[in-house]
Amino acid sequence: MVSSLPCHTVTGASSLKLFRYQGFWMPESWAAAAAAIQRRFEPRLDDVIVSSLPKCGTTWLVALTFATMVRRVYPPGAADHPLRRLNPHQCLPFLEGLFATRREGKLEGLPSPRLMNTHMPLQMIPHAIAAPGGGGGGGCRVIYICREPKDMAVSTWHYLRHAYPELAFSDVVDLLCDGTMACGPFWDHILGYWRASAASPASVLFLRYEQLLLDPAENVRRLARFLGLPFSTDEEKDGVVHGIVELCSLHTLSAMEPNRTGYVDPRHKLPRQALFRKGMAGDWKNHMTPEMVRRMDSIVADRFRTTGITF
Ligand code: A3P
Repeated sequence: MVSSLPCHTVTGASSLKLFRYQGFWMPESWAAAAAAIQRRFEPRLDDVIVSSLPKCGTTWLVALTFATMVRRVYPPGAADHPLRRLNPHQCLPFLEGLFATRREGKLEGLPSPRLMNTHMPLQMIPHAIAAPGGGGGGGCRVIYICREPKDMAVSTWHYLRHAYPELAFSDVVDLLCDGTMACGPFWDHILGYWRASAASPASVLFLRYEQLLLDPAENVRRLARFLGLPFSTDEEKDGVVHGIVELCSLHTLSAMEPNRTGYVDPRHKLPRQALFRKGMAGDWKNHMTPEMVRRMDSIVADRFRTTGITF
C-alpha cells in the first residue's frame, strides 16, 4: 500500500522519505501503521492517549501523565519510581511503533487504564472520540500538546541533525511551511485536535507547551482533573503535585541515567539525550532570519484565522 503513495524525499536527508497518507506525510512505517490503527485500534473507555506532533513536548507530557496516573502506587519521591529507571517513552506503548511491527496484540494484554502515546493525527484514531449522541464507539481520553511552530522547527532541526548532519535549518523550515514534516501539515494536525477538544472537552484536553512552562503545577492539576484523578487535599498538603513537577522537570529527567544513555531509535542514531535540550519558549529568535519569521507567521495567521488559536 505505502509504495503506491505520493513520496517526498527530505532535502538534506536523502534517506528520509515521507509518504502522503490521507493528507498527512509520514515515514514509511508510520504510514503503514496509520492504516492499521484506523482499521484495528479499538480504544477502551478508560484508555488515555497522549498525542502531539514530534518535538512539541511529548516526552515531558508523557512523563507528567504517567507520574500522575501511577502516583498512588509510585509516589513521585519513590526511589524505585519507573521514571528513575526508564526513559519516559519506555513507560508506555507507542501506537505506531506497535502497529508498524504487528505487535499491537501487546495492547490487549495491558491492564486498564492503559496509557499510550502517538504522533498520529486524530483522523487516524477515529474511535478515540465518542460518536456524537453516544451512538457507536464510546471513545477514550486524549491529551494533546501543541507548541509554537517556530520553536517546533528549531527543536526538530536540533534533533534530526543527530541522524542527518547535512540537514540545514532552512530545510526544516521548508518542511514545516510546505506541510511535509512528519505527521504534517502541522496546521491540520493541530486543528484536528483543537476542534475535537472544543466539541468534546471531556474527551480531549488541549495543552500548550508554553503554558506548561509558565505554570507546570497548575497544568498537572488540570491534567489530573481531566483524568478523573484530582489531587486530594492531603496530596496537596504532602506536596505530591510539586513532587511530580520536580520529578518530570527537564533538569531532573535529563540527569537520570536512562535518559543519558541509549537510543530512541538505534537505527537512526537518535540518542535519548537528544530528547532533552533547552526546553524554553522563543528559541526561534536565536535561529530564524526575519524572512523565515515572516513566512511562518503568515502561514500560521492564514491557517489559524477564525479558529481562536494564536501563537
Ligand atoms: P527543545 O529542543 O526546544 O529544547 P519531544 O519530547 O516532543 O521530542 O519534544 C522535545 C522538546 O521538549 C525539546 O525542546 C526538549 O528540550 C523539551 N523537553 C523535553 N523534556 C522536557 C521537560 N521535562 N520539560 C520541558 N521541556 C522538555
